[in-house]
Amino acid sequence: MNKETFIHPSAEISPMAEIGGGTKIWHNVQVREHAVIGHECVIGKDVYIDTGVKIGNGVKIQNGISIYKGTLIEDLVILGPNCVFTNDPYPRAFPAGWEPVPTILKKGCSVGANATIVCGVTIAEYTLIGAGAVVTRNTLPFSMMAGNPARLRAFVCVCGRELRVADNKDLHVGFECDRCGRSVSLIFDIRSPLPAPPGGKHVDAPQTDSE
Ligand SMILES: CC(C)(COP(=O)(O)OP(=O)(O)OC[C@H]1O[C@@H](n2cnc3c(N)ncnc32)[C@H](O)[C@@H]1OP(=O)(O)O)[C@@H](O)C(=O)NCCC(=O)NCCS
Ligand SMILES: [Zn+2]
Repeated sequence: MNKETFIHPSAEISPMAEIGGGTKIWHNVQVREHAVIGHECVIGKDVYIDTGVKIGNGVKIQNGISIYKGTLIEDLVILGPNCVFTNDPYPRAFPAGWEPVPTILKKGCSVGANATIVCGVTIAEYTLIGAGAVVTRNTLPFSMMAGNPARLRAFVCVCGRELRVADNKDLHVGFECDRCGRSVSLIFDIRSPLPAPPGGKHVDAPQTDSE
């Protein structure tokens, strides 16, 4: 049975928006037409969700965030308070030929408080973006990115803590988490090199072969 949806009386929800069971929507939220919000989400105070934005299940959106047209948010994403999305890389106040540029947040990723995500990027599965970061490039799965511009600092577990390299064979790297005991295995792709992390080795784009 679907859980009930809670909508605070001060929220303004378009009758053309879809909201899943068990989702809670708090004070002064505006949800525009054709937006789709999944099940069991929490949408904090003063959030704006633009037309046609798609949000998955179990997503937590903390206070004061505007999510513009062209943003896609998959399941289990958390957005820290006052983080910023954009949808125009070359803004002009007057007509200059603009189409919204999409931003994609993949399953399980986290965006720290007050971070800015420049449009056109994909934040990969379980990436953790540090507070105040400015993200200008696609991220790697399980990466931790921080700073302005955001740079790769570490790889992190599903639980959010830094992973330790346990096994490194050719392009396959096995990581382990000392906090929760999970293993994460990444396959690095030498066709998509990335800048080296501070003090670290050059790394290449990985794919995951485990959750
Ligand atoms: C990025 C983050 C995950 C790093 O956590 P951590 O691994 O425990 O990091 P540490 O505190 O050990 O710091 C390691 C180094 O990174 C720096 N650092 C930490 N957070 C940073 C950030 N957000 N941006 C830039 N640098 C950061 C520290 O200053 C430190 O540098 P130093 O060694 O030169 O002193 C964490 O600081 C963060 O920003 N988390 C997001 C919190 C948030 O916004 N939550 C929102 C929901 S409430
Ligand atoms: Zn862990």
